[in-house]
Amino acid sequence: MSQHFKRIEKIKGALNLGGDKSISHRAVMFASMAEGESTILNCSSSLDVWSTVSCFRSLGCKIDGDTNQLKIIGRGFKGFKSPSHPLDCGNSGTTARLISGILCAQNFETTLIGDESLSKRPMKRVIEPLSKLGAKFRPSEVGTLPLEILPVDSLIPINYEMSVASAQVKSAIILAGIHLNEVSTIIEHEITRNHTEKLLSIVTEKTGDSTKLFFSRKNYPQKFELTVPSDISSASFFIVLALLSKESVVTIKNVSLNETRTGIIDILKKMNGDITIQNSKTELGETYGDLIVRSSNLVNTEIPISIIANIIDEIPILSIAGLFAKGDFKIQGAKELRVKESDRITALCHNFKIAGLSVNEFEDGFEISGEPNNSVNTFESFGDHRIAMSFAVFSMLHKEGGLVNNFECAAISNPNFVKQIAELTA
Ligand code: S3P
Repeated sequence: MSQHFKRIEKIKGALNLGGDKSISHRAVMFASMAEGESTILNCSSSLDVWSTVSCFRSLGCKIDGDTNQLKIIGRGFKGFKSPSHPLDCGNSGTTARLISGILCAQNFETTLIGDESLSKRPMKRVIEPLSKLGAKFRPSEVGTLPLEILPVDSLIPINYEMSVASAQVKSAIILAGIHLNEVSTIIEHEITRNHTEKLLSIVTEKTGDSTKLFFSRKNYPQKFELTVPSDISSASFFIVLALLSKESVVTIKNVSLNETRTGIIDILKKMNGDITIQNSKTELGETYGDLIVRSSNLVNTEIPISIIANIIDEIPILSIAGLFAKGDFKIQGAKELRVKESDRITALCHNFKIAGLSVNEFEDGFEISGEPNNSVNTFESFGDHRIAMSFAVFSMLHKEGGLVNNFECAAISNPNFVKQIAELTA
């Protein structure tokens, strides 16, 4: 379905977004692993998190309620039931990578499958470290889904040094390692999101730029109640729209302010963005607060490579901010973008060319300059939710509006995007 977005003059009001996708995935997984009933409030309504819910139902967990209040009766240590069919991870890399770490410690065989996009994404990055823990897999030749995970007698602890900056890989190793009495360790040289560590109370030690994590069965989850903070990645589309449309003031409530996720706010503030934080609180290690965002005259700034892992999901919408800001936008050191839900470097550059901009594509980033054309452009989403919503925001800021093909993929992270825009422009 192609969705039309007309130009908006301003947005105004308060916005309650759904729960953070990364935290919700983990909450559903950890509640399913724990023994007894857990409650998750404000769980994400994204299709990705529902892929996780559906996998854990197939593994024998009772999951009832809705995103306001989800009740999960977990199966306890190694208590999952062997599923009668392959587990479908849909479009969700987080589901596929993290569940691999859990399933390699069970005493039955499982097969993971996914949609067309997920079936192209690299799984070797989890197969390699989990194999060092003694896990056994039957991967496709190219190391993608479908992936068969085979039972083994026992796993062995590891001391692993991360070779790719990935919270999904780190979390998969942790989730396997917490099935062992012995302590395993991971050293990460680039900070990636740390929701797994926070929710499982994993001890970390910082030395210079590196972090060492220590984990064992002592970190195996126990039942809990959690209110999930709102999703900062979903918020970033509304932040950029408010900053760049005239006379806008928007309050986005209870947004996750986890320090491994707030790089987007830091960069936008450095670009002269008027963003203030109110009412910040911390619950189970996760900080959240209200963001007040006002129209601003943005100016491009250098984006340091050290912040890339922190803003990896926000780069598409950040580049839209950069395109309307004073000066040229350039980003490098972001080759991970090539293995996301789409090759996001190719996808962004393709759409920027449609908008009439000068584009310089690199293996690990891109540079854009010039003024957008005066046409009603039709953008490709590449079936990628963040590309779809980024060009929806572009269209709403462009004098002629614009269209985004296959916009329905936005539901992968935010099924309510169009409704929320309508509320803020009413
Ligand atoms: C995620 C980690 C990131 C991110 C993804 C969600 C997570 O992926 O891009 O959307 O929840 O752990 P990588 O860890 O592969 O960079």
